[in-house]
Amino acid sequence: MIKSKKEYLKEYELSISNPEKFWSNYAKNFQWISPFNKVLNWNFDEPKVEWFINGKLNITENIFERNLSKIRDKTAILWEPNDSDAEAKKITYNQLFSQVCQFSNALKKKNIRKGDRVIIYMPMVPEAVVAMLSCARIGAIHSVVFAGFSANSLSDRINDSRAKVIITSDGNFRGNKIIPVKKIVDEAIKKTNSIETVIVLNRTNMDVSMKKDRDYWYHDTVENESTESKAEIMDSEDSLFILYTSGSTGSPKGVVHTCGGYMIYSQYTFENIFQNKNDEIYWCTADIGWITGHSYIVYGPLLSGATTLMFEGVPTYPDPSRFWKIVDKHKVNQFYTAPTAIRALQSFGDNYFKNSSLDTLKVIGSVGEPINLEAWNWYNSNIGKDKCPLVDTWWQTETGGIMISPIPGVIEPKPTYATLPLPGIQPILLDNNGNEIKENEVEGNLCIKYPWPSILRTTYGDHERCKKTYFSTFKGYYFTGDGAKRDKEGNYRILGRVDDVINVSGHRIGTAEVENAINENPSVIESAVVGYPHKIKGQGIFAFIIIDKNQYNQNYKDEIRNTVSDYIGPIAKPDEILIVPGLPKTRSGKIMRRILRKIASNDFENFGDTSTLLNPDIVKEIIESKK
Ligand code: PRX
Repeated sequence: MIKSKKEYLKEYELSISNPEKFWSNYAKNFQWISPFNKVLNWNFDEPKVEWFINGKLNITENIFERNLSKIRDKTAILWEPNDSDAEAKKITYNQLFSQVCQFSNALKKKNIRKGDRVIIYMPMVPEAVVAMLSCARIGAIHSVVFAGFSANSLSDRINDSRAKVIITSDGNFRGNKIIPVKKIVDEAIKKTNSIETVIVLNRTNMDVSMKKDRDYWYHDTVENESTESKAEIMDSEDSLFILYTSGSTGSPKGVVHTCGGYMIYSQYTFENIFQNKNDEIYWCTADIGWITGHSYIVYGPLLSGATTLMFEGVPTYPDPSRFWKIVDKHKVNQFYTAPTAIRALQSFGDNYFKNSSLDTLKVIGSVGEPINLEAWNWYNSNIGKDKCPLVDTWWQTETGGIMISPIPGVIEPKPTYATLPLPGIQPILLDNNGNEIKENEVEGNLCIKYPWPSILRTTYGDHERCKKTYFSTFKGYYFTGDGAKRDKEGNYRILGRVDDVINVSGHRIGTAEVENAINENPSVIESAVVGYPHKIKGQGIFAFIIIDKNQYNQNYKDEIRNTVSDYIGPIAKPDEILIVPGLPKTRSGKIMRRILRKIASNDFENFGDTSTLLNPDIVKEIIESKK
């Protein structure tokens, strides 16, 4: 753990001057089945990145066997259910290990082998973690799909990964709703042909249909299974998981992370950013369907032997004091959440946190989107009581772990800034022509110039796409898709996406995906979607649509929202829908989104050069429709 600025500077210096030495030193903390014989091979042109070459390991041996003698009876997962009156559950490291072994054996009986893909579509329950770790134990590649995604999104991911198994639940308690999860899975499977087995956790006791010789109850599969299971020997570069994420074009892509590098970087960053010690309780409010849940609910904390709190419900149920009550109830020491949740809770007023003492908190964190100054100040003074360092952590699904962030007691937070890179991370700002901007007090495209252990290795089944998306815009660099500003002291402030990705409540949504969904509606001829500032969600989705007058019906807004919800999921529903006579297009047919972004934000001036538009008058007409 880095404890002082001096230590940070020393580590950073070594990590840049001799990255191989730096990371191989840290890798000594892990249990290798056989050691690696080279630290790094890389080029960003193919791209090809390999870490800890020829090392053999299993990440679950590093969670369990490596540490068990010290933490056998320590709580690994502290689970708080949706219902605030129901009892919380504590699962020790030893119990978790037994459950993982049993379920690993169950998966093997269902014919799952190393390299097979397993979809996990589950609520926030400990069995979801057991499922992930069991896959890792036997070398199967898990792909967790956020349980808020629609059947259509789920079937796309099943088809892309050619998954053999889905692990799911009958239903999902979310606030005062029960979501019929298994029904969504049944719907999704209809459009796929690779699924052989469905394993269903009984969480809600709701009625579900179970197909013979395909669907099995979770409790039946683990009954009578041994609590021992030999870990599969994995190469450092074998895939650990696939996680789908949206980009600016096409359908979501499967970001692939591998065993060795991901293991090392998730533990390194967890330890340093959260400084969790002894019996302290750590809580990350993300869903395991996102990378934050993977790295900072499951792998980082469990590799570090921490107690990770997992919450099944939503921040506003039974009322907006729920988060703060959980902090007091379980004496949470480190709390990690998203700006959207902060803004939403802030909007309910002060009464909801006033009755919680929050005095166990030592570190508070933020992730997923830029945090505006007002939310930063509210969080810092009302939740952190001006005494907890607020770590605004910048990173991405593709980076696997936190890249730029304050470090408690080491690197001072600066409001709205992610501040400085962690050791091993070499950020750089490039102008639009790809030239490095060396000075400070500048803005540019945020790139990374050297690999770190948990950089994505490929996009599943389509390496060319990985190259094109991340390594072609600026040759020789990993391009993050974000714009950033650097201040006098070298602190980074993330300005948001510079591509066609909208960040809604910290969730990445591609404009093309939403447009494709909207265009499925028979009354829509064409659409263009942009992000615009939204008080709670950070960015909202604004859809400009051209409608077929013959098909027009008054309920078109609801219908379009329902279509998007069916195709992607409720998180992608447009907030605003505006009928327009046309769209601003260049002669080559490209929509000029910057114009639409300004109009969506009620900024009707200084459109810049519009002479390349096919029909410059359309701008005025769209503004008229908006007013
Ligand atoms: O735009 C950045 C924003 O979220 C994007 C990554 O999204 P995703 O892969 O879903 O991962 C989210 C959780 C790591 C980034 O490209 N982002 C993430 N963290 C921050 C952020 N923007 C500003 N500040 C942050 N701390």
